[in-house]
Amino acid sequence: MNIFPPMSTLRVKAITSLNAEFSVPGDKSVSHRAAIFGGLSNGTCEITNFLPSEDCVNTLKAMRSLGARFDVIEELEGYGPVKLLIHGTSMKLTAPESPIDCGNSGTGMRLLAGLLAGQEFTSELFGDASLSSRPMGRITTPLAEMGAKMETLGEKPGCAPLKIHPSKLKPITYEMPVASAQVKSAVLLAGLFSEGITSVIQPSITRDHTERMCAAFQLSCRTDGNKISIPGGQMPESCDLTVPGDISSAAFWLVAAAAMDGSRLLLKDVGLNPTRTAILAVLGRMGASISEIYHNSSGEPIGNITIHGAELKGTTLLEEEIPNLIDEIPVIAVAAALAEGDTHIRNARELRVKETDRITTTVENLRKMGADVEEFEDGMVIHGGKPLKGASIESHGDHRIAMAFAIAGLFAKGETVINGTDCINTSYPGFAHHLDAIRHERTKAEDFILPTILK
Ligand code: S3P
Repeated sequence: MNIFPPMSTLRVKAITSLNAEFSVPGDKSVSHRAAIFGGLSNGTCEITNFLPSEDCVNTLKAMRSLGARFDVIEELEGYGPVKLLIHGTSMKLTAPESPIDCGNSGTGMRLLAGLLAGQEFTSELFGDASLSSRPMGRITTPLAEMGAKMETLGEKPGCAPLKIHPSKLKPITYEMPVASAQVKSAVLLAGLFSEGITSVIQPSITRDHTERMCAAFQLSCRTDGNKISIPGGQMPESCDLTVPGDISSAAFWLVAAAAMDGSRLLLKDVGLNPTRTAILAVLGRMGASISEIYHNSSGEPIGNITIHGAELKGTTLLEEEIPNLIDEIPVIAVAAALAEGDTHIRNARELRVKETDRITTTVENLRKMGADVEEFEDGMVIHGGKPLKGASIESHGDHRIAMAFAIAGLFAKGETVINGTDCINTSYPGFAHHLDAIRHERTKAEDFILPTILK
């Protein structure tokens, strides 16, 4: 039996208390990279707490179509593997039989494009309507500089599908115009398949999961300030990995708890990589009391987060924080609407090229719920403290918009209906189960456990 009903609509009502402890599913960024590096490695890798979401399962299938094999050990019922063995290709990828489906995932497509740029065979990457409208020039430009032969076949110029022809790559030093971990990772992966040292210079610090993954697979990859360099021709040594809980998924519950005076929430085994934890600093500035206990730091720091709610106050997101919390901005905007005073979210133009234009979709939905928001080309200013009212919300197929407004619904007068919630499965299978437990004010860890099957 699939305990998760089809989720095209979620209905949410206000709650009066939140006191719970549980774990969120594995990190999306780390799971993509575990699939890719595991598939390149010279042996068998046991991956624990893999995120069985559509995005990551697509990357796993992509690696299978390129010659890697995997055996599922444990599966989240109705979704995909949470524990698996990946048998690597020793860097010898084989031509896929058909075009590779990246679904909704910008990370999947951009990282795979880097991987495929220097192969001896032709390949094609495609995705859904949202992914086919997102800019790919940001990766095709540096990859072309390395000698890759790539075509963007989309109706929209510079967009997917991507056709990648056989090429021999040369190393480059690439100064990235946007702070993007996806672009950085695409160039570094291409660099692994070229001769010589490839470097990327980032305008500001972006998530460093690729660099940490290189270390786990004993690949030399050097970080010197904002410059990351990788020598080509290395062989990833197979290893076992445990994927931390996704702090971007934890963010929804952290905001729910932060904005509810008297609440207490303990989230276990969350990834606490410092390039991802700015959300904690922001909620702290807004008035929540937060503590973290680190209990594992092999590769990726992992720990437990305890948060106590308060009456929140507005804040200003710092320019250098933006890449660190880019995925959390829709739910931070919800926190801002619940806080007293103004919250300034600027320098966040990148939000316009995510799964949706997240400036527009966030502002539009906040206004529907009665919030006072000003929209800017690069962000928004939220004049918080107006009571939220239930509304009919459109996700526009964007998982983070759907989940952010489910959280808003926990604070609104009347019922909030979120339309188009199947997209949540791209990053958080089981979200509806956790929301249900929170809505019914359940407190025990057992109430939140997602059912898995041993294979
Ligand atoms: C990701 C990087 C970020 C983030 C995305 C995941 C990654 O995108 O928004 O959800 O895994 O590298 P950009 O690097 O394009 O900002």
